Amino acid sequence: MTASPATHLAERLADDIRSGRLPSGTLLPTHRQLAAQHGVALATASKVYAQLKAMGLVVGETGRGTFVRDRPLQREWDSADEARLNSETIDLSFNHPSQPGQADMLRSLLRELATSGDLAALLHQQPPGGRRHERQIVADFLARHRGIEMQGERIFLVNGAQHGLDIAVRTLLGPGDQLAVDTLTYPGLKMIASAQGVTLRPVPGLQDGPDMQALDHLCRERRVRAIYCMPTLHNPLGWVLSDRQRQAIVEIARRHDCFLIEDAAYAYLAEGAPSALVTRAPERTLYVSSLSKSVATGLRFGYLVVPEALMGRVRSQLRANHWSLPSLITAMGTRWIADGTVARLEAAHREEAGLRQAIARQVFAGMPLVANPCSLFVWLPLPDELRMDRIATALAEHSIAVSKAEAYATTTHAPHALRLGLSSVPLEQLEAVLRRVRNVIERFPI
Ligand SMILES: Cc1ncc(COP(=O)(O)O)c(C=O)c1O
Repeated sequence: MTASPATHLAERLADDIRSGRLPSGTLLPTHRQLAAQHGVALATASKVYAQLKAMGLVVGETGRGTFVRDRPLQREWDSADEARLNSETIDLSFNHPSQPGQADMLRSLLRELATSGDLAALLHQQPPGGRRHERQIVADFLARHRGIEMQGERIFLVNGAQHGLDIAVRTLLGPGDQLAVDTLTYPGLKMIASAQGVTLRPVPGLQDGPDMQALDHLCRERRVRAIYCMPTLHNPLGWVLSDRQRQAIVEIARRHDCFLIEDAAYAYLAEGAPSALVTRAPERTLYVSSLSKSVATGLRFGYLVVPEALMGRVRSQLRANHWSLPSLITAMGTRWIADGTVARLEAAHREEAGLRQAIARQVFAGMPLVANPCSLFVWLPLPDELRMDRIATALAEHSIAVSKAEAYATTTHAPHALRLGLSSVPLEQLEAVLRRVRNVIERFPI
Protein backbone atom coordinates (compact mmCIF):
# COMPACT_ATOMS: atom_id res chain seq x y z
CA MET A 1 0.00 0.00 0.00
CA THR A 2 1.45 3.42 -0.92
CA ALA A 3 1.38 6.30 1.54
CA SER A 4 -1.29 8.97 1.09
CA PRO A 5 -0.10 12.30 -0.41
CA ALA A 6 -0.32 13.85 3.08
CA THR A 7 1.81 11.15 4.67
CA HIS A 8 4.28 11.28 1.80
CA LEU A 9 4.76 15.02 2.13
CA ALA A 10 4.82 14.85 5.95
CA GLU A 11 7.62 12.29 5.73
CA ARG A 12 9.65 14.47 3.38
CA LEU A 13 9.31 17.45 5.70
CA ALA A 14 10.06 15.26 8.73
CA ASP A 15 13.27 14.17 7.00
CA ASP A 16 14.23 17.79 6.39
CA ILE A 17 13.61 18.61 10.05
CA ARG A 18 15.52 15.62 11.43
CA SER A 19 18.47 16.19 9.14
CA GLY A 20 18.61 19.84 10.18
CA ARG A 21 17.84 21.15 6.68
CA LEU A 22 14.89 22.86 8.36
CA PRO A 23 16.43 24.04 11.63
CA SER A 24 14.61 24.57 14.94
CA GLY A 25 12.53 27.70 14.96
CA THR A 26 11.98 27.86 11.16
CA LEU A 27 8.62 29.40 10.28
CA LEU A 28 6.93 26.98 7.88
CA PRO A 29 4.61 28.06 5.02
CA THR A 30 0.96 28.62 5.83
CA HIS A 31 -1.38 25.72 5.00
CA ARG A 32 -2.47 27.55 1.88
CA GLN A 33 1.11 28.25 0.76
CA LEU A 34 2.12 24.62 1.39
CA ALA A 35 -0.85 23.42 -0.68
CA ALA A 36 0.11 25.75 -3.55
CA GLN A 37 3.83 24.86 -3.40
CA HIS A 38 3.19 21.13 -3.63
CA GLY A 39 0.06 21.16 -5.79
CA VAL A 40 -2.10 19.47 -3.14
CA ALA A 41 -5.52 20.30 -1.66
CA LEU A 42 -5.74 22.61 1.34
CA ALA A 43 -7.14 19.73 3.43
CA THR A 44 -4.05 17.67 2.55
CA ALA A 45 -1.74 20.48 3.70
CA SER A 46 -3.64 20.61 7.00
CA LYS A 47 -3.20 16.86 7.41
CA VAL A 48 0.55 17.22 6.79
CA TYR A 49 0.88 19.70 9.64
CA ALA A 50 -1.32 17.58 11.88
CA GLN A 51 0.99 14.60 11.28
CA LEU A 52 4.14 16.63 11.90
CA LYS A 53 2.61 17.94 15.09
CA ALA A 54 1.73 14.42 16.24
CA MET A 55 5.37 13.43 15.61
CA GLY A 56 6.41 16.25 17.89
CA LEU A 57 8.36 17.96 15.12
CA VAL A 58 6.43 21.23 14.78
CA VAL A 59 4.40 23.54 16.98
CA GLY A 60 1.56 25.75 15.88
CA GLU A 61 1.04 29.08 17.59
CA THR A 62 -2.35 30.70 17.04
CA GLY A 63 -2.02 33.76 14.83
CA ARG A 64 1.71 33.27 14.28
CA GLY A 65 2.03 30.13 12.18
CA THR A 66 3.71 26.75 12.37
CA PHE A 67 7.33 26.44 13.53
CA VAL A 68 9.91 23.66 13.59
CA ARG A 69 10.03 22.62 17.22
CA ASP A 70 13.10 23.19 19.31
CA ARG A 71 14.06 19.76 20.61
CA PRO A 72 15.36 19.70 24.15
CA LEU A 73 18.98 18.59 24.30
CA GLN A 74 19.42 14.91 24.93
CA ARG A 75 21.26 13.81 28.01
CA GLU A 76 25.01 13.87 27.98
CA TRP A 77 25.86 11.31 30.59
CA ASP A 78 24.50 8.26 28.83
CA SER A 79 26.21 8.68 25.50
CA ALA A 80 26.19 4.92 24.73
CA ASP A 81 22.52 5.04 23.78
CA GLU A 82 22.73 8.41 22.07
CA ALA A 83 22.82 6.88 18.61
CA ARG A 84 19.46 5.22 19.20
CA LEU A 85 17.78 8.44 20.23
CA ASN A 86 16.06 10.60 17.67
CA SER A 87 13.66 13.48 17.47
CA GLU A 88 10.74 11.23 18.38
CA THR A 89 12.39 10.00 21.55
CA ILE A 90 10.33 10.48 24.68
CA ASP A 91 12.67 12.02 27.18
CA LEU A 92 12.37 10.64 30.71
CA SER A 93 16.06 11.31 31.33
CA PHE A 94 15.73 15.03 32.07
CA ASN A 95 13.08 17.15 33.71
CA HIS A 96 12.01 20.10 31.59
CA PRO A 97 8.99 21.31 33.54
CA SER A 98 6.79 23.78 31.71
CA GLN A 99 3.30 25.17 32.04
CA PRO A 100 0.78 26.07 29.32
CA GLY A 101 1.09 29.63 28.09
CA GLN A 102 4.78 30.04 28.85
CA ALA A 103 5.58 31.24 25.33
CA ASP A 104 3.01 34.02 25.75
CA MET A 105 4.41 34.83 29.16
CA LEU A 106 7.87 35.24 27.62
CA ARG A 107 6.51 37.32 24.76
CA SER A 108 4.78 39.74 27.08
CA LEU A 109 7.82 40.00 29.36
CA LEU A 110 10.06 40.84 26.39
CA ARG A 111 7.53 43.40 25.20
CA GLU A 112 7.39 44.92 28.68
CA LEU A 113 11.18 45.07 28.90
CA ALA A 114 11.42 46.56 25.41
CA THR A 115 9.21 49.47 26.42
CA SER A 116 10.70 49.99 29.86
CA GLY A 117 12.45 53.24 30.75
CA ASP A 118 15.99 52.05 31.27
CA LEU A 119 16.54 49.51 28.52
CA ALA A 120 20.08 50.69 27.73
CA ALA A 121 21.10 49.65 31.27
CA LEU A 122 20.87 46.06 30.05
CA LEU A 123 23.84 46.74 27.78
CA HIS A 124 26.09 47.59 30.72
CA GLN A 125 28.17 44.95 32.40
CA GLN A 126 27.14 43.96 35.90
CA PRO A 127 29.10 43.71 39.13
CA PRO A 128 30.00 40.08 40.01
CA GLY A 129 26.94 38.46 41.48
CA GLY A 130 24.57 40.91 39.85
CA ARG A 131 23.07 44.33 40.47
CA ARG A 132 22.18 45.26 43.99
CA HIS A 133 18.44 45.75 43.46
CA GLU A 134 18.13 42.42 41.65
CA ARG A 135 19.96 40.58 44.45
CA GLN A 136 17.56 42.22 46.88
CA ILE A 137 14.58 40.88 44.89
CA VAL A 138 15.97 37.35 45.35
CA ALA A 139 16.59 38.06 49.05
CA ASP A 140 12.95 39.13 49.49
CA PHE A 141 11.78 36.02 47.64
CA LEU A 142 13.87 33.70 49.80
CA ALA A 143 12.57 35.36 52.96
CA ARG A 144 8.96 35.13 51.85
CA HIS A 145 8.90 31.72 50.20
CA ARG A 146 11.78 29.73 51.71
CA GLY A 147 12.08 31.12 55.23
CA ILE A 148 15.66 32.20 54.49
CA GLU A 149 16.42 35.67 55.85
CA MET A 150 19.58 36.95 54.21
CA GLN A 151 20.89 40.37 53.21
CA GLY A 152 20.94 40.94 49.44
CA GLU A 153 24.73 41.30 49.40
CA ARG A 154 25.11 37.67 50.52
CA ILE A 155 23.24 36.52 47.41
CA PHE A 156 25.17 36.12 44.15
CA LEU A 157 23.25 35.69 40.92
CA VAL A 158 24.59 32.94 38.66
CA ASN A 159 23.72 31.22 35.36
CA GLY A 160 21.70 28.39 36.86
CA ALA A 161 22.31 26.04 39.78
CA GLN A 162 25.01 24.12 37.92
CA HIS A 163 27.03 27.31 37.65
CA GLY A 164 26.37 28.09 41.31
CA LEU A 165 27.63 24.64 42.32
CA ASP A 166 30.71 25.04 40.16
CA ILE A 167 31.51 28.38 41.81
CA ALA A 168 30.86 26.90 45.28
CA VAL A 169 33.23 23.99 44.61
CA ARG A 170 35.91 26.28 43.13
CA THR A 171 35.64 28.57 46.12
CA LEU A 172 35.98 25.82 48.70
CA LEU A 173 38.10 23.08 47.16
CA GLY A 174 41.11 22.57 44.94
CA PRO A 175 42.56 19.54 43.16
CA GLY A 176 42.94 16.60 45.54
CA ASP A 177 40.61 18.09 48.19
CA GLN A 178 37.84 15.85 49.49
CA LEU A 179 34.11 16.39 49.21
CA ALA A 180 31.60 14.13 51.01
CA VAL A 181 28.64 13.12 48.85
CA ASP A 182 25.83 10.56 48.94
CA THR A 183 26.49 7.23 47.23
CA LEU A 184 23.80 8.32 44.78
CA THR A 185 23.99 11.99 43.93
CA TYR A 186 23.29 14.60 41.26
CA PRO A 187 25.38 13.74 38.16
CA GLY A 188 26.23 17.39 37.42
CA LEU A 189 28.09 17.58 40.74
CA LYS A 190 30.16 14.55 39.74
CA MET A 191 31.11 16.33 36.52
CA ILE A 192 32.21 19.43 38.43
CA ALA A 193 34.34 17.37 40.83
CA SER A 194 35.93 15.44 38.01
CA ALA A 195 36.72 18.61 36.03
CA GLN A 196 38.29 20.23 39.09
CA GLY A 197 40.21 17.18 40.32
CA VAL A 198 38.18 17.08 43.55
CA THR A 199 37.98 13.66 45.26
CA LEU A 200 34.46 12.48 46.09
CA ARG A 201 34.02 10.52 49.33
CA PRO A 202 30.74 8.57 49.27
CA VAL A 203 28.55 8.39 52.37
CA PRO A 204 26.25 5.34 52.44
CA GLY A 205 22.53 6.03 52.54
CA LEU A 206 19.84 4.62 54.82
CA GLN A 207 16.25 4.41 53.73
CA ASP A 208 15.41 8.05 54.40
CA GLY A 209 18.72 9.87 54.22
CA PRO A 210 22.47 9.70 54.64
CA ASP A 211 23.90 7.47 57.38
CA MET A 212 24.97 10.15 59.89
CA GLN A 213 27.30 7.83 61.77
CA ALA A 214 29.11 7.00 58.53
CA LEU A 215 29.31 10.71 57.67
CA ASP A 216 30.72 11.54 61.10
CA HIS A 217 33.24 8.69 60.80
CA LEU A 218 34.29 9.82 57.31
CA CYS A 219 34.85 13.40 58.46
CA ARG A 220 36.90 12.12 61.43
CA GLU A 221 39.06 9.80 59.33
CA ARG A 222 39.63 12.01 56.28
CA ARG A 223 40.26 15.69 55.75
CA VAL A 224 36.83 16.34 54.25
CA ARG A 225 36.58 20.05 53.38
CA ALA A 226 32.91 20.15 52.47
CA ILE A 227 29.72 18.09 52.44
CA TYR A 228 27.43 18.29 49.40
CA CYS A 229 23.78 17.53 50.15
CA MET A 230 20.23 17.99 48.93
CA PRO A 231 18.23 18.03 52.19
CA THR A 232 14.98 19.00 50.49
CA LEU A 233 14.14 16.70 47.59
CA HIS A 234 17.25 14.74 46.98
CA ASN A 235 17.96 13.92 43.36
CA PRO A 236 17.51 10.99 42.61
CA LEU A 237 15.98 9.48 45.79
CA GLY A 238 13.48 12.18 46.76
CA TRP A 239 14.54 12.38 50.43
CA VAL A 240 13.30 15.31 52.47
CA LEU A 241 15.45 15.25 55.59
CA SER A 242 13.81 15.70 58.97
CA ASP A 243 14.63 18.42 61.43
CA ARG A 244 16.76 15.94 63.40
CA GLN A 245 18.71 14.78 60.35
CA ARG A 246 19.41 18.40 59.35
CA GLN A 247 20.58 19.21 62.84
CA ALA A 248 22.86 16.16 62.77
CA ILE A 249 24.50 17.29 59.49
CA VAL A 250 25.07 20.76 60.86
CA GLU A 251 26.61 19.36 64.06
CA ILE A 252 28.91 17.07 62.09
CA ALA A 253 29.98 19.98 59.87
CA ARG A 254 30.71 22.13 62.94
CA ARG A 255 32.49 19.32 64.79
CA HIS A 256 34.87 18.69 61.90
CA ASP A 257 34.94 22.24 60.58
CA CYS A 258 33.53 21.39 57.14
CA PHE A 259 31.58 23.62 54.81
CA LEU A 260 28.15 22.61 53.54
CA ILE A 261 27.02 22.92 49.94
CA GLU A 262 23.23 22.83 50.04
CA ASP A 263 21.62 22.16 46.66
CA ALA A 264 17.99 23.26 46.65
CA ALA A 265 17.29 22.87 42.93
CA TYR A 266 14.03 20.98 43.57
CA ALA A 267 13.34 22.24 47.10
CA TYR A 268 10.35 24.38 46.12
CA LEU A 269 8.34 21.23 45.47
CA ALA A 270 8.38 20.14 49.13
CA GLU A 271 6.36 22.83 50.86
CA GLY A 272 6.55 22.73 54.62
CA ALA A 273 9.96 21.00 54.72
CA PRO A 274 12.08 21.77 57.81
CA SER A 275 14.23 24.89 57.56
CA ALA A 276 17.17 24.99 55.16
CA LEU A 277 20.72 24.24 56.37
CA VAL A 278 21.75 27.77 55.41
CA THR A 279 19.46 29.19 58.10
CA ARG A 280 20.93 26.79 60.71
CA ALA A 281 24.59 27.26 59.82
CA PRO A 282 24.87 30.45 57.73
CA GLU A 283 28.56 30.75 58.61
CA ARG A 284 29.46 27.56 56.71
CA THR A 285 26.69 26.88 54.18
CA LEU A 286 26.67 27.76 50.48
CA TYR A 287 23.07 27.46 49.30
CA VAL A 288 22.33 27.04 45.58
CA SER A 289 19.10 27.10 43.59
CA SER A 290 17.67 28.35 40.31
CA LEU A 291 14.54 28.89 38.25
CA SER A 292 15.30 25.88 36.02
CA LYS A 293 12.86 23.49 37.68
CA SER A 294 10.10 26.03 38.30
CA VAL A 295 10.21 28.29 35.22
CA ALA A 296 12.40 26.88 32.44
CA THR A 297 15.66 24.97 32.13
CA GLY A 298 16.82 27.25 29.33
CA LEU A 299 16.45 30.50 31.27
CA ARG A 300 19.78 30.02 33.13
CA PHE A 301 18.95 32.10 36.18
CA GLY A 302 20.21 30.89 39.54
CA TYR A 303 21.53 32.17 42.85
CA LEU A 304 24.17 31.27 45.37
CA VAL A 305 23.93 32.34 49.03
CA VAL A 306 27.36 32.48 50.66
CA PRO A 307 28.80 32.95 54.17
CA GLU A 308 29.96 36.48 54.85
CA ALA A 309 33.58 35.39 55.21
CA LEU A 310 33.60 33.91 51.71
CA MET A 311 32.07 36.83 49.84
CA GLY A 312 35.39 38.17 48.56
CA ARG A 313 36.52 34.76 47.32
CA VAL A 314 33.21 34.12 45.58
CA ARG A 315 33.41 37.54 43.92
CA SER A 316 36.91 36.75 42.58
CA GLN A 317 35.76 33.35 41.32
CA LEU A 318 32.85 34.93 39.50
CA ARG A 319 35.08 37.58 37.92
CA ALA A 320 37.60 34.97 36.79
CA ASN A 321 34.87 32.65 35.61
CA HIS A 322 32.57 34.89 33.56
CA TRP A 323 33.31 38.55 34.37
CA SER A 324 29.67 39.65 34.16
CA LEU A 325 26.23 38.06 34.00
CA PRO A 326 23.92 38.53 30.98
CA SER A 327 21.85 41.52 32.10
CA LEU A 328 18.86 40.58 30.00
CA ILE A 329 18.54 37.24 31.81
CA THR A 330 18.82 38.69 35.30
CA ALA A 331 16.29 41.37 34.36
CA MET A 332 13.89 38.68 33.15
CA GLY A 333 14.37 36.35 36.12
CA THR A 334 14.00 39.08 38.74
CA ARG A 335 10.92 40.54 37.05
CA TRP A 336 9.23 37.17 37.15
CA ILE A 337 10.22 36.77 40.78
CA ALA A 338 9.03 40.26 41.73
CA ASP A 339 5.69 40.14 39.91
CA GLY A 340 4.70 36.79 41.46
CA THR A 341 5.06 34.71 38.26
CA VAL A 342 7.64 32.39 39.84
CA ALA A 343 5.49 31.76 42.92
CA ARG A 344 2.50 31.05 40.67
CA LEU A 345 4.46 28.63 38.48
CA GLU A 346 5.87 26.90 41.55
CA ALA A 347 2.36 26.33 42.87
CA ALA A 348 1.24 24.96 39.49
CA HIS A 349 4.21 22.57 39.34
CA ARG A 350 3.59 21.39 42.90
CA GLU A 351 0.06 20.50 41.99
CA GLU A 352 1.14 18.78 38.81
CA ALA A 353 3.97 16.88 40.47
CA GLY A 354 1.38 15.31 42.79
CA LEU A 355 -0.71 14.19 39.80
CA ARG A 356 2.32 12.81 37.97
CA GLN A 357 3.53 10.91 41.02
CA ALA A 358 0.09 9.40 41.49
CA ILE A 359 0.16 8.15 37.89
CA ALA A 360 3.65 6.67 38.38
CA ARG A 361 2.62 4.93 41.60
CA GLN A 362 -0.38 3.41 39.93
CA VAL A 363 1.54 2.24 36.85
CA PHE A 364 4.42 0.76 38.85
CA ALA A 365 2.24 -0.72 41.60
CA GLY A 366 3.91 -3.82 43.01
CA MET A 367 7.37 -2.68 41.92
CA PRO A 368 9.85 -1.33 44.50
CA LEU A 369 9.56 2.33 43.48
CA VAL A 370 11.52 4.90 45.53
CA ALA A 371 9.94 8.33 45.23
CA ASN A 372 8.66 11.29 47.17
CA PRO A 373 4.96 12.02 46.53
CA CYS A 374 5.80 15.64 45.70
CA SER A 375 8.77 15.13 43.42
CA LEU A 376 9.16 15.16 39.65
CA PHE A 377 11.08 11.90 39.32
CA VAL A 378 11.03 8.30 40.50
CA TRP A 379 13.83 5.86 41.20
CA LEU A 380 13.10 2.39 39.90
CA PRO A 381 15.29 -0.44 41.20
CA LEU A 382 15.26 -3.31 38.68
CA PRO A 383 14.71 -6.97 39.48
CA ASP A 384 18.01 -8.69 40.39
CA GLU A 385 18.48 -10.46 37.12
CA LEU A 386 18.04 -7.35 34.94
CA ARG A 387 20.98 -5.14 34.03
CA MET A 388 20.23 -1.44 33.78
CA ASP A 389 22.22 -0.87 30.59
CA ARG A 390 20.35 -3.59 28.73
CA ILE A 391 16.99 -2.23 29.88
CA ALA A 392 17.99 1.33 28.99
CA THR A 393 19.03 0.13 25.54
CA ALA A 394 15.76 -1.76 25.10
CA LEU A 395 13.84 1.37 26.14
CA ALA A 396 15.87 3.48 23.70
CA GLU A 397 14.79 1.05 20.97
CA HIS A 398 11.22 1.85 22.05
CA SER A 399 12.12 5.56 21.71
CA ILE A 400 12.22 6.17 25.46
CA ALA A 401 15.29 7.78 27.03
CA VAL A 402 15.96 7.14 30.74
CA SER A 403 18.87 7.77 33.12
CA LYS A 404 20.81 4.84 34.51
CA ALA A 405 21.90 4.57 38.13
CA GLU A 406 25.57 4.65 37.16
CA ALA A 407 25.23 8.35 36.24
CA TYR A 408 24.30 9.04 39.89
CA ALA A 409 26.63 6.57 41.61
CA THR A 410 29.75 7.75 43.42
CA THR A 411 30.84 4.19 44.21
CA THR A 412 32.28 1.75 41.67
CA HIS A 413 29.29 -0.60 41.91
CA ALA A 414 26.06 1.14 40.97
CA PRO A 415 22.78 -0.57 41.82
CA HIS A 416 20.73 -1.73 38.83
CA ALA A 417 18.14 1.01 38.76
CA LEU A 418 16.72 3.71 36.51
CA ARG A 419 15.66 7.27 37.22
CA LEU A 420 12.59 8.41 35.36
CA GLY A 421 11.92 12.13 35.07
CA LEU A 422 8.17 12.68 35.01
CA SER A 423 7.86 16.27 33.84
CA SER A 424 9.01 16.34 30.20
CA VAL A 425 6.10 14.28 28.83
CA PRO A 426 2.65 15.94 28.44
CA LEU A 427 0.47 14.93 31.39
CA GLU A 428 -2.09 13.18 29.22
CA GLN A 429 0.63 10.93 27.69
CA LEU A 430 2.44 10.08 30.90
CA GLU A 431 0.47 7.01 31.89
CA ALA A 432 0.83 5.38 28.45
CA VAL A 433 4.58 6.12 28.36
CA LEU A 434 5.16 4.70 31.84
CA ARG A 435 3.13 1.61 30.93
CA ARG A 436 5.46 1.10 27.99
CA VAL A 437 8.42 1.29 30.38
CA ARG A 438 6.83 -1.30 32.65
CA ASN A 439 6.06 -3.59 29.69
CA VAL A 440 9.63 -3.44 28.42
CA ILE A 441 10.96 -4.33 31.88
CA GLU A 442 8.48 -7.14 32.47
CA ARG A 443 8.88 -8.68 29.03
CA PHE A 444 12.63 -8.40 28.95
CA PRO A 445 14.14 -11.83 28.14
CA ILE A 446 16.36 -12.98 31.00
C1 LIG B 1 19.96 18.54 42.04
C2 LIG B 1 20.28 19.46 40.92
N1 LIG B 1 21.09 20.49 41.13
C3 LIG B 1 21.40 21.35 40.16
C4 LIG B 1 20.89 21.22 38.90
C5 LIG B 1 21.27 22.20 37.83
O1 LIG B 1 20.22 23.06 37.55
P1 LIG B 1 20.34 24.30 36.57
O2 LIG B 1 19.59 23.93 35.35
O3 LIG B 1 19.75 25.44 37.29
O4 LIG B 1 21.80 24.51 36.29
C6 LIG B 1 20.03 20.16 38.62
C7 LIG B 1 19.50 19.96 37.27
O5 LIG B 1 18.95 18.97 36.91
C8 LIG B 1 19.72 19.25 39.66
O6 LIG B 1 18.91 18.20 39.45
